[in-house]
Order: sequence, then structure tokens, then C-alpha cells
Amino acid sequence: MGSPSFFFRLFLFITCLVHLLYFLSVYGWGLYSDRSHIVTGNLTILLWHWPFGPSYSLKGDVCWDRYRITGCRLVDQRSLYPSADLVVFHHRELMTGQERLPFHLPRTRHQKWVWLSLESPDNNGDLKPFNNVFNCTMSYRRDADFTIPYGKLVPKDRDTGNYSRTENVIPKNKSPLACWVVSNYNPQQKRSLVYNSLRESIKVEVYGQWDGRVLAPSNLLPTISRCYFYLAFENSISKDYITEKLWRNAYQAGAVPVVLGPPPNDYMAVAPPNSFIHIENFTSTKELGNYLSQLILNKESYAGYFAWRRSHQVKVYTDWRERLCSICPQYHILPAQKVYRDLEAWARWGHQVR
Ligand SMILES: *[C@@H]1O[C@H](CO)[C@@H](O)[C@H](O)[C@H]1NC(C)=O
Ligand SMILES: *[C@@H]1O[C@H](CO)[C@@H](O)[C@H](O)[C@H]1NC(C)=O
Ligand SMILES: *[C@@H]1O[C@H](CO)[C@@H](O)[C@H](O)[C@H]1NC(C)=O
Ligand SMILES: *[C@@H]1O[C@H](CO)[C@@H](O)[C@H](O)[C@H]1NC(C)=O
Repeated sequence: MGSPSFFFRLFLFITCLVHLLYFLSVYGWGLYSDRSHIVTGNLTILLWHWPFGPSYSLKGDVCWDRYRITGCRLVDQRSLYPSADLVVFHHRELMTGQERLPFHLPRTRHQKWVWLSLESPDNNGDLKPFNNVFNCTMSYRRDADFTIPYGKLVPKDRDTGNYSRTENVIPKNKSPLACWVVSNYNPQQKRSLVYNSLRESIKVEVYGQWDGRVLAPSNLLPTISRCYFYLAFENSISKDYITEKLWRNAYQAGAVPVVLGPPPNDYMAVAPPNSFIHIENFTSTKELGNYLSQLILNKESYAGYFAWRRSHQVKVYTDWRERLCSICPQYHILPAQKVYRDLEAWARWGHQVR
């Protein structure tokens, strides 16, 4: 039998070793590190130009003051470029040629250039000129370095409302069966084909520019809340592309979303089970129409689609500052070095390119 103190010392040694390895894996260690270098103090994020033009105030400690995120310094003065840990470029202005990448400025070893876009691949144009430039991606994609969804569900504050029955969280006075808001109608798009076929079996109320029934922003949610279903049909079908049509127009308004977009698995990854109806689940629009007409006759089944509303509420992201501040809590999990050699392949086909 060995002496107990030997085993005790062995135990201590292994414990220390495990801790050491843990800290190395978390904080990185020189060449062996696979993580981003540790920023002491604040992480400086430079927004090279504001998306779509309008700028917002970055006075004070904006990430802390507005979103309670610490250690995050968000700036938009280009003179701060040399000290920036990350430089964020919104794609639209690069694509149109309104803004250019500052290739003439040296990059420090750790500085990362971030490609930012909330558009689907169909609306990003040719990305080949941007190959071999960016170190990070920022988009709605779940596999982007910084994921910025259009919306999500968050736990509800427990002190408001009555959670005892699901029916209590469903808006009352519903009448049109399904509603659709569409501003750019293109008869060739899949969503238009589905709409035209679906309205042969159920009543679909259409609003928006296309039909000349434009809803004022303050009228949008109250109008949709009177519909049993909302056609949350995306204008572009691609991986993870799930927009405010789901989060705001359907969930927030209180209509059950009938979704057309990426495959069911993409929705299931971000939305509660049994909270939406995916058109791919039906072999025809007639079958879908029948399902919808039957569903509203069964109050309990219909109410089941709102079960999440007892415990959760919708958060929709609209402020670029909030999206940019969200970089900070996601930063530490990035690899130290990464280059998107083929941004086009990543954006269009979802290839992971390092
Ligand atoms: C980080 O930013 C805050 C708010 O702007 C500031 O008060 C603090 O001194 C900064 N810390 C460092 C280490 O620069
Ligand atoms: C919540 O709703 C249930 C059923 O409608 C009702 O019996 C109950 O009194 C309500 N509770 C509160 C606190 O309003
Ligand atoms: C698809 O159909 C299956 C089987 O009827 C059902 O369990 C599931 O909830 C449906 N999913 C969606 C997204 O409609
Ligand atoms: C960022 O990308 C550039 C351009 O390809 C590359 O030279 C640089 O090493 C990368 N930096 C990091 C921190 O990944």
C-alpha cells in the first residue's frame, strides 16, 4: 500500500494540472492559443460607416448605458483606427462603391476586420472582390462569428399579465383567416405562387404597397393581431434567413405564423416548437388551407401555438448600436487568426472557410 500522503500529493498535482489546462484553454497562451488575444481594458469597436446613412449618438459608455454590456467601447471616428480591435464594415455601402476599404492603412496583428450584412445572399451582389479581406462575419446566420438575429424570444418579466391560461395571451376579435403584408410583389417568386394557390382554398387578406392598402407603422400590429394566421413569407430563401416577418409581424402581433423560408430545422433552432406552421410540412396548398381552416375550429389546438407567450416575449432588434455592442460578449470565443478566403462561398453556400 502506498502512503496516503503520496496519493494526496498526486491528487493535488492533478488538480493543479487540470486548473492550469483550463486557464490556458480559456485565456490562451502565446503561440498555442486558438483564442483571440486578451484585450486588457475595453474592446474598441470602430464602425467605419453607418449602415444606410443615418448615424446615432455614441456619447458616453453607450454599450453600458443602453444595454448593460461592460468593457465595450463603440466608436465611429476613423482617426481611432490604429487603436481599434475590430473595424466593422457594413456591406451595402461597399457594394455600391459609396465607401471603400482602407487597404492603405496598416493592420495590427490582432486587428480584425468585420463584414456586416443583414441581407440574404441574393441581395449582397458579387462578393468575390471581398475574398481574403475579412477576419469575421456578422450576420443573422447562426454560424457567423457574430450572430445578430432579426429577433428572438426572451423570458417574460414575471410581474405583468396573467399566465394561468394560454387563451389569455391570444388577441381577441379575430376575423380574417390569414393575412399577408407585401410591399414588393413579384409574381415569379415562390411566395407569390404559394399565395395565389393558397387563396383558392382559404381567405387571405392582403395589405401593403402592392395592394394599395398600406398600413401605417402604428396600425401594423393591431391589424395583424386580428388575423388567425400571418403569412411570414420571406422574399429570399436561404439558410437561417428569418426576418422580422416572423418575430414582429406574426409573433409580436399575436397571429400564428405560416412560414415560407429556410427549412423547418432552421426555424426549430430559434423558435419554440409548435409555434409556427411550415409550408414544407404539407404536400399541397390545398392541404395547408384545410389544415388552417380546421385548426381555428379547435380552440385548444389553436391556442397551443401560443403556449410560449405565457413565459416568453419577443425581442426585435432594430438599433445598430445594440447589434454592435453584442460583439463584445461574443468576442472571446473567436479564434485568434481567421481569414475568409472565399466570402462568396461562405455567404452563398454556407461553406466554413478559414
Ligand atoms: C473603459 O471605458 C469606460 C467607459 O468609457 C471608462 O470609464 C474606463 O476607464 C475604460 N477602461 C479602460 C481600461 O480604458
Ligand atoms: C387569471 O386568469 C384566470 C382564468 O381566466 C382567472 O381565474 C384568474 O382570476 C386570473 N388571475 C389574475 C391575477 O388576474
Ligand atoms: C409538421 O408535421 C408534423 C407531423 O404532423 C408535426 O408534428 C409538426 O409539428 C409539424 N411541424 C410544423 C413546423 O408544422
Ligand atoms: C485578417 O485578415 C488579413 C487579410 O487576409 C490577414 O492578413 C490577417 O492576418 C488577419 N488577421 C487576423 C487577426 O486574423
